[in-house]
Amino acid sequence: MVYLTRGVVATGLTLLAHSVAVTAKESSASPIVADGTHFALNGKNVAYRFHVDNTTGDLLGDHFGGSVGDNIPLEVIGEVNGWVSDIGRVRREFPDQGRGDYRVPAISIRQSEGYTVSEFRYKSHKIIPGKPALPGLPATMGTEEDVSTLVISMYDKYSDVAADLSYSIFPKHDAIVRSVNVTNHGTGNITIESLASLSVDLPYEDLDMINLRGDWAREAQRERRSVAYGLQSFGSSNGYSGHLHNPFLALTEPSTTESQGEAWGFSLVYTGSFTVNVEKGSQGFTRALMGFNPSQLSWVLPPGETLTSPECVSVYSKDGIGGMSRSLHRLYRNHLIKSKFATSDRPTLLNSWEGLYFDFNQSSIYDLAKEAAGVGAKLFVLDDGWFGKEYPRLSDNAGLGDWVPNPDRFPDGLEPLVKKITDLKAANTSTNMRFGIWFEPEMVNPNSTLYDEHPDWALHAGPYPRTEARNQLVLNLALPEVQDYIIKSVSDVLKSADISYVKWDNNRGINETPSPATNHAYMLGMYRVFNELTTQFPDVLWEGCASGGGRFDPGVLQYFPQIWTSDNTDAIDRISIQLGTSLAYPPSAMGAHLSEVPNHQTGRTVPVAVRAHVAMMGGSFGLELNPAVMDEEDKAAVPGLVALAEKVNPIILNGDMWRLNLPEDSNWPAVLFIAEDARNAVLFVFQVAPNVNHSWPRIKLQGLDPQASYKVDDGVVYTGATLMNIGLQFAFKGDYGSQVVMLEKQ
Ligand SMILES: *[C@@H]1O[C@H](CO)[C@@H](O)[C@H](O)[C@H]1NC(C)=O
Ligand SMILES: *[C@@H]1O[C@H](CO)[C@@H](O)[C@H](O)[C@H]1NC(C)=O
Ligand SMILES: *[C@@H]1O[C@H](CO)[C@@H](O)[C@H](O)[C@H]1NC(C)=O
Ligand SMILES: *[C@@H]1O[C@H](CO)[C@@H](O)[C@H](O)[C@H]1NC(C)=O
Ligand SMILES: *[C@@H]1O[C@H](CO)[C@@H](O)[C@H](O)[C@H]1NC(C)=O
Ligand SMILES: *[C@@H]1O[C@H](CO)[C@@H](O)[C@H](O)[C@H]1NC(C)=O
Ligand SMILES: *[C@@H]1O[C@H](CO)[C@@H](O)[C@H](O)[C@H]1NC(C)=O
Repeated sequence: MVYLTRGVVATGLTLLAHSVAVTAKESSASPIVADGTHFALNGKNVAYRFHVDNTTGDLLGDHFGGSVGDNIPLEVIGEVNGWVSDIGRVRREFPDQGRGDYRVPAISIRQSEGYTVSEFRYKSHKIIPGKPALPGLPATMGTEEDVSTLVISMYDKYSDVAADLSYSIFPKHDAIVRSVNVTNHGTGNITIESLASLSVDLPYEDLDMINLRGDWAREAQRERRSVAYGLQSFGSSNGYSGHLHNPFLALTEPSTTESQGEAWGFSLVYTGSFTVNVEKGSQGFTRALMGFNPSQLSWVLPPGETLTSPECVSVYSKDGIGGMSRSLHRLYRNHLIKSKFATSDRPTLLNSWEGLYFDFNQSSIYDLAKEAAGVGAKLFVLDDGWFGKEYPRLSDNAGLGDWVPNPDRFPDGLEPLVKKITDLKAANTSTNMRFGIWFEPEMVNPNSTLYDEHPDWALHAGPYPRTEARNQLVLNLALPEVQDYIIKSVSDVLKSADISYVKWDNNRGINETPSPATNHAYMLGMYRVFNELTTQFPDVLWEGCASGGGRFDPGVLQYFPQIWTSDNTDAIDRISIQLGTSLAYPPSAMGAHLSEVPNHQTGRTVPVAVRAHVAMMGGSFGLELNPAVMDEEDKAAVPGLVALAEKVNPIILNGDMWRLNLPEDSNWPAVLFIAEDARNAVLFVFQVAPNVNHSWPRIKLQGLDPQASYKVDDGVVYTGATLMNIGLQFAFKGDYGSQVVMLEKQ
């Protein structure tokens, strides 16, 4: 037994230090070892251990960190005095509510009688090769070679409620993925008031927490602070993962840096509102919870029904924050993104938005497409403004919901224009241009035929006014008829012409809902729509967008291999936004474009090469401008920059990312991408502010093979050791410089 009763402690000073052995012959080799009621998950460099307390049936955490041997010392539990009882002094895997653990619970259930006490005890477990899909939810996936799953069944005999905790381990990626499902075996309705996908108690030590905060046009700003006693919490309540906080948390030692020290990364595979709670309790343990936002759940579970939580990915690295990110990137590239484009080259695109906004007709669109082809783009994207019949979309106050081409602009539908554009060849190639189009299918303008016919399809709460944002309301995707309408109207457009790319936008948060549970029901409906459409159109390249990075999360990535990172296209701001986003998400997932100057969001003028170099660090490179109105010299530089973007694209898409200098810390942010096969690498170095009468720092590379030789751009060959221990130095002049350097292993 692991924690002591008061009687036992009172008899002596010496406290028990237990140790347990997980069957020696198996433990180091098998990803999952269950020895009685002691459990071990083993990755390449990660170990996770927990066991069942044999008096209380509680699940107690023993270790989540670097690899360990078969015998491990268990927690030493002190004398219990004061109000916090035994249950509040242990490291629990599934903390329930109402019995003396005064920390934040992972589950809270309101019984039909009104009380909210639960007592979940271990009942059984099973090991499943591979990883079962989560019903209706996005999830990481893999073969039996890639992943194994341990399911622990817990049961509350007083309420007849079961909870299955799933732990899937991807040993190669040092990733453990957790989720919970709750089933009501009783006779009355119960209400799930809170349910965390992940709950872990780390031992008594000082930790830092890192999260990504922001707002529109300044997403993914890295925030690092010490974990203090008490609760520190963040999340989203706008119905989506949102701009304000990303569903990502890192815990680190206070001394952990980009390249050294322990780091735990947690990433919630969910697109709805969420809550992250980090609580340092009276014993000094740090509890981390991640899951549904309890203020938007209140999920009624009738007898026989199950609620499945989204899953939470956790990774561990002892190679600092960079190591943590690279594990998440590899896992997401290989085991999350379903699209066939996940790791295949993305076409350079030109999007009409910042070039023409709502002000276009077929001939001006065609002219822009010709300009796009002329500078080397391979895909032309028609953004907002192409649709609406009775309520044509000429500005942002009408048309959303009516996904038919505007007959004034497209009297014969999209087909003739699409045909003309896809007959164009990208400059100096025999490649035909491709055509892409913009949608915002989850939204409706009150000025629309859809709203005239179905005002009840817009989310609303009884008599309360329907708050508009950007003149629009949100459709209730919890309703099957709304899901069917979206699937049909989007697929009708995609079938009407040769369309090979979709930008799926979503430009406001959710306000009034008929019930708190509508928020999760909406997500289930939205995932059904995403799944049906991406399955029906697997050759379409889908890009997610939500006023920029308002829905940059692993849930969206399951269906859409790329997401527009931010509406802020200012190159200097983008360095922070893209490097922040890369804490959790692979660069392959980021859409990043070269746009006009002065920048439309910040008013800043940055040289064209710097703008392009920042953008080509994202997997989907594009242009957000009208080449016809560009400065001549800048325009002349574009074809060369497009060619460079296409050259580095395979490394960005499949490579490992090493953040060498962060924009928060250095005037010379630098990033190295090393191809999966380690043969090629590309280094990006930037100068932000001028540097007068001062030397320039050496950029020490990382992650190379010290013994190997690498040819650097100009033909000079250095060993990996030289590049990592001396580094390369670059001279810059003035504001905003950049260098892109190719490395080739000899
Ligand atoms: C309960 O577990 C403790 C520590 O692991 C062990 O010493 C004890 O024998 C167990 N008791 C029972 C009844 O299995
Ligand atoms: C709950 O999860 C477990 C583990 O994945 C699974 O075996 C079980 O079928 C699930 N129950 C339901 C009703 O989905
Ligand atoms: C139980 O929940 C179902 C579904 O929400 C509802 O239709 C039913 O009226 C509820 N029953 C009671 C007794 O509240
Ligand atoms: C299309 O728009 C362009 C630019 O605004 C304008 O010059 C042209 O006359 C328009 N063409 C038609 C057919 O309306
Ligand atoms: C096409 O070739 C011409 C002549 O070599 C060159 O000037 C131009 O930049 C090229 N365009 C692109 C997009 O590569
Ligand atoms: C509907 O469109 C009209 C005409 O453009 C505009 O004046 C009005 O403000 C719009 N209404 C809403 C609710 O956006
Ligand atoms: C350094 O300072 C001297 C004296 O002011 C000036 O002549 C020179 O141009 C400066 N050099 C640089 C690289 O700024």
